[in-house]
Amino acid sequence: MIAQGCFIETLAIAAGHLGYATEVMLFPDGTARADFEMRPVAEVLLTKATVSADPLFGQILHRRTSRVPFDQKHVVTQTELNQLTAVRVPAAIEVAGTINAEKMRQLTALAIASNEVECDTPRTRNETVDHIHIGASEIAKNREGISIAGTGVWWASHLGLLSNAAMRDPSTKSFASLKTMVEDAAESSNAYVWLKSHTNSPEDQVAAGRAWVRVTLQSTAQGLMLHPLSQALEEFAEMAPQHVKMRQLTLCEDQETIQMFARLGYAAEGEHSPRRRVGSFISSA
Ligand SMILES: Cc1cc2nc3c(=O)[nH]c(=O)nc-3n(C[C@H](O)[C@H](O)[C@H](O)COP(=O)(O)O)c2cc1C
Repeated sequence: MIAQGCFIETLAIAAGHLGYATEVMLFPDGTARADFEMRPVAEVLLTKATVSADPLFGQILHRRTSRVPFDQKHVVTQTELNQLTAVRVPAAIEVAGTINAEKMRQLTALAIASNEVECDTPRTRNETVDHIHIGASEIAKNREGISIAGTGVWWASHLGLLSNAAMRDPSTKSFASLKTMVEDAAESSNAYVWLKSHTNSPEDQVAAGRAWVRVTLQSTAQGLMLHPLSQALEEFAEMAPQHVKMRQLTLCEDQETIQMFARLGYAAEGEHSPRRRVGSFISSA
């Protein structure tokens, strides 16, 4: 639902740029039926209109997720964080963040611990590994998920040191890399940012996605990089202690939900994530 919200917000910003007003009707078939998650999430009506340009439009093609360690010499200031969290988002969503050293230390430890739980739980580890594509030829065949490429990766995979099969086996270096990638990333965080919703309806989840795109586009405008670290937000039994800790550290009240959690900092612009061609998933009625 969050990803659907990301799509809808990007569409609305781009439509405005092309001179169309966007009217979004969420869940046209309702959310009461058991299979509503398999039904359309939104009906979007585009009408030719004079729309005031959204300054975030210019960032759409520059925005990208960064999984590399962030620059330790270029720290995020409170003013920069305030500018980011002040971005206009749907009313159902609150944007918050911290650069407080003690809070950062606790959140980094939690991000690492929750990734360990995900990696040490076979069914959640395998779910992640299923979406990892290693090396240029695998990535070209699967233009989705999480791609890992580069010269070091090419050598490691050709020497048999890095593979999806080995990532499923806790005795291997490939498995260990699932943990060290997140450790290195989290330990280099300059700040953390999160989104909170007051309730957790499907509409709130879509609103969180719309908000998340605006936060990421605003971070791009400021020259900052974002990287979600979602493990502690996941709702499965083994993660329950980390889930509770995340709620405590982000001052999340009883009925509230943390929808997104990410590290923030400076890094060189990496590659864009390969994605399927637009034409491959458009169909006409
Ligand atoms: C709800 C949600 C949660 C995500 N959580 C993570 C995460 O924990 N770790 C991660 O590396 N990517 C995560 N991602 C994926 C990336 O942020 C990003 O959307 C995806 O890799 C596409 O890459 P791009 O942002 O460079 O276009 C998440 C995406 C969504 C929509």
